[in-house]
Amino acid sequence: MNNPKRYLITSALPYANGLKHIGHLAGAYLPADIYTRYLKAQKRDVVFVCGSDEHGTAIPIQAMKEGTTPQAIIDKYHPIIEQNFRDLGIAFDIYHRTSAPIHHTTAQEFFTVLNNHGDLEIKESEQYYDEDAKTFLADRFIKGTCPNCKYDNAFGDQCERCGKSLSPEELINPISTLSGKPPIKKLTKHWYLPLNKHEDFLREWVLKNHKDDWRANVVGQVKSWIDMGLQPRAVTRDLDWGVQVKTMVNDQWSVVEGKVLYVWFDAPIGYISATKQWALDNGKDWQPYWYDKDTKLVHFIGKDNIVFHAMIFPIMLKLHGNILPDNVPSNEFMNLEGDKMSTSRGWSIEMDEYINDWIKKENGGESMADVLRYYLTAIAPETKDSEFTWKGFQEANNSELVSILGNYVNRTFVLMHKLCGGKVPTFHNEIIDETDKQLITDILNTKLKVEQLIEGYKFREAQFEVIDLARKANQYMQKKEPWIVAKQLTENPNAQKLIDNCLYLCLQLTANLAILINPFLPFTAKKMLHMMKVVDRMLDWKNAGSLKLLSVGYSLREPQLLFRKIEDEEINFQIEKLKNKSLKTKVEKIKSETPDLKPEIQFEDFSKIDLRIGTIISAEKVEKADKLLKLEIDLGFEKRTIVSGIALHYKPEEIIGKQVTVVCNLAPRKMRGIESNGMILMAEDKAGKLYFVNPDNTIDSGSTVS
Ligand code: 2FM
Ligand code: ZN
Repeated sequence: MNNPKRYLITSALPYANGLKHIGHLAGAYLPADIYTRYLKAQKRDVVFVCGSDEHGTAIPIQAMKEGTTPQAIIDKYHPIIEQNFRDLGIAFDIYHRTSAPIHHTTAQEFFTVLNNHGDLEIKESEQYYDEDAKTFLADRFIKGTCPNCKYDNAFGDQCERCGKSLSPEELINPISTLSGKPPIKKLTKHWYLPLNKHEDFLREWVLKNHKDDWRANVVGQVKSWIDMGLQPRAVTRDLDWGVQVKTMVNDQWSVVEGKVLYVWFDAPIGYISATKQWALDNGKDWQPYWYDKDTKLVHFIGKDNIVFHAMIFPIMLKLHGNILPDNVPSNEFMNLEGDKMSTSRGWSIEMDEYINDWIKKENGGESMADVLRYYLTAIAPETKDSEFTWKGFQEANNSELVSILGNYVNRTFVLMHKLCGGKVPTFHNEIIDETDKQLITDILNTKLKVEQLIEGYKFREAQFEVIDLARKANQYMQKKEPWIVAKQLTENPNAQKLIDNCLYLCLQLTANLAILINPFLPFTAKKMLHMMKVVDRMLDWKNAGSLKLLSVGYSLREPQLLFRKIEDEEINFQIEKLKNKSLKTKVEKIKSETPDLKPEIQFEDFSKIDLRIGTIISAEKVEKADKLLKLEIDLGFEKRTIVSGIALHYKPEEIIGKQVTVVCNLAPRKMRGIESNGMILMAEDKAGKLYFVNPDNTIDSGSTVS
């Protein structure tokens, strides 16, 4: 879509369940910010929305970890993440929240429209239920053994060890993380979006119409989902955290108790509610941004969000009568120092951490925000996974930002002050030469290339072109050598003119660089404006390519260094810090997995217990008690009746003749009217399954255990 009337740009709403790392920044936020800044410099009508995704099980799970409430979690992380983005120059027009009432009503209305049109299907199915907690269990609340790698702490939706996507039904020995007990299956009703009914639409819209202008990874994922066979997808959940499901019958809302919209149904509607709130705050009309075909909607996302933004949300938008995204630029993953970036494993650089270490520590530290922006864009995983290394970061700063861009601007200003009295010199057309002409062409070509690349979502190459222009400008200055020409002022009558022309062009090129670099490095562009003593308006994109941005005779400020060198010690410190963080996380994980042991006892305490090996000689179910078996145990010296809670694990006929360990001096206890004289020791695994504790060979009943 060329030159649309307006743009709506979205970045994936991050979960407000913890700090976000620089891999997230590189994926969905920085590219969107570059694109938006470029469009704004073009004076296009553009709104850039984002905000916190505050629903889904990620939030209550974090609340459980931090021993607090879901509300406290979102109230803690929402403002931190918002401020982190601001500190790194990500300039959203609104950073909204899905907990806001306007979002809840927007999502409920959206659901109702689809429901009332008959676009959703209602189905009953059996799902895992925790009888103790009296709640259905979201996938993340079920743990068990991974069928693929046998890791025994896999979640119901994914195994964190082997990465396999799972459904709770696939887990071996599932247990509820709420009660620690095996869940039961219970019937429940849910609303489904029948993706299968929209296969033709997706084939036509993505695989045909967008096969060339969308990134290959996006089209490829859509294709593989379609090829696997589309299924109806539940859009509601049995949970108490989220947007409550409401239906509208005869203009009356009716609440569906205990059900919320699936987070992946409500979150993208968050883009709409954010636009509504932005419009309210700014006295605008939100509707054209979501209904007018002359709006270009672009969703910037990370790789793991493709299916939702390129398939499910577009189906929802189509059914609801909204416009569809024009593009869904998605990046691949950015690794860190040879491994996958992961906050939970401590192998990550949080935005907050970077800000504290590099931006807040020094005066004028904003330029360090630009250094990160620069490096992340230079290694953006636009078509394949890429890797952040601290050495690479240092190298990008020292050899490109400092040596090329910073050095060029500094030299230009120093020489202009020294050789042209601190003012913009005159340009003498009569002595223009081929080298000057080439530089002028380079400026114009760079502008055109950068436009084309940004509009094609190729931010890495676009940024490269800008730095390449600075590289060419350095070469130009090197060739012109105004400092040498300055020594020939007496013998060469054209000397001052030559100096003037060189510095005139270098200054106009500096102004052009400020415009071209602004979408990528906004803090640097601002610093350059200050040095040139010009107002923000100069950064309007239409000014790029002009050679008259700074007027002849205009006096400019003294230079300021745009970037500083990064020393080896700073980099080594960060590398060490990363290793320590990951080690600390590992140790903490091991600690948290180590059970709390009971308080220490003395040998005398233990020796009070009389443990003997007994043999089960009969077993029968206890009436009206699902869990109990009445056992007759031969202890050699006598026979005992013991009632044991093992009926869910063993059938009576299976255990006759088995040897068990019996606590035989336990005071008698009545259970369901039967006197139980002792207790059988049982071992319990993580899934709650019980096992007998017995000798590894048959021995005499009554043998002592100590
Ligand atoms: O993956 C995530 O972090 C999700 N919270 C992204 C949601 S994007 C959109 F749907 F809101
Ligand atoms: Zn696994």
